Amino acid sequence: MKILIVGGAGYIGSHVARESLDQGHEVTVYDNLSSGFRTNLFPEAIFIEGDILDYPALLAAAMGRDVVIHLAAVKAAGESMVKPEKYSLNNLCGAVNIINATCEAGIRRLVFSSSAATYGEPAYIPIDEKHPTRPENYYGFTKLETERILGWYDKLKGLRFAALRYFNAAGYDAKGRIHGLEKVPANLLPVIMETACGMRSELQVFGDDYETKDGTGVRDYVHVSDLARGHMSALKWIDENDESLIVNLGSEAGLSVLELLETARRITGRPIPSRIVPRRPGDPAKLVASSALAKEKLGWTARESDVTTLVQTTWDAYKRSGKA
Ligand code: UD1
Repeated sequence: MKILIVGGAGYIGSHVARESLDQGHEVTVYDNLSSGFRTNLFPEAIFIEGDILDYPALLAAAMGRDVVIHLAAVKAAGESMVKPEKYSLNNLCGAVNIINATCEAGIRRLVFSSSAATYGEPAYIPIDEKHPTRPENYYGFTKLETERILGWYDKLKGLRFAALRYFNAAGYDAKGRIHGLEKVPANLLPVIMETACGMRSELQVFGDDYETKDGTGVRDYVHVSDLARGHMSALKWIDENDESLIVNLGSEAGLSVLELLETARRITGRPIPSRIVPRRPGDPAKLVASSALAKEKLGWTARESDVTTLVQTTWDAYKRSGKA
């Protein structure tokens, strides 16, 4: 298949591009390199440097492709609460452009990077797809709204889509083929790694008084290579069933901040100084996915999302970069 990967130079996008190439597809990456990296581009893929707000360029890139995978978005939940304009423009206007270009180019299949942020504060755990969607931040709202737009286009235009609600993406390609490290990371594992490398003086642990196993926040960390496989399985499913799908991609395991930190200390052999600080506003105590639907429909389960692989592959990426 000819696949257009919008945002294919980014952290998750480059892993999806790698998996698509490994599966023998023809890949075109469309990316403005605002948070993606040239080093994440593979020579076997076509690269078009372009912005999702540039509709003519996007349409030209979509022409002649069979499928679009949309991973181009801004994703800092906290920032979205103070800069909603940025999130409206990139995540809503950008998504509408991509969806319109997909339809105008005569493409009937699209895979969209959604998020567990669509659920908001969990009413129960594990979170399945029937869980109420009440996003707590504007970022989560933009993801949910895009899913709703896709739902309308399914009805009105026959566009079949898979919206993949990722939980906490982490890890790097185990074969060491992805090189770009996020520039100013805010997520836990890269922050731990930057502390291990001496780029930060300490890890701030946001609260140790949650009702969790050790008092720190618990999340469902899912390896990016597992996510990448999930995209390909979802694509196959919507193709074969001629139906759209909204599905969680999570490991179903809950890891605490301290569990990740201790594993990182063991694997890196570095002290990684840490300090307990007050809770970060808006952080739920615990988020864990049910991935039963992904298993049932896609035959997908996480394979590389154990804590050791998550931390080891991330540390390997930091070592390759020379930062360690
Ligand atoms: C956040 C967003 C989520 C988004 C995801 C991807 C919220 C509520 N969720 O997930 O919507 O899809 O990022 O960017 O904003 N932690 C520390 N110290 C740190 C960093 C994090 O203790 O320096 C803790 C957090 O309190 C949390 C866990 O580590 O318990 C994971 O945090 P993080 O990696 O930022 O992801 P989420 O907040 O779960």
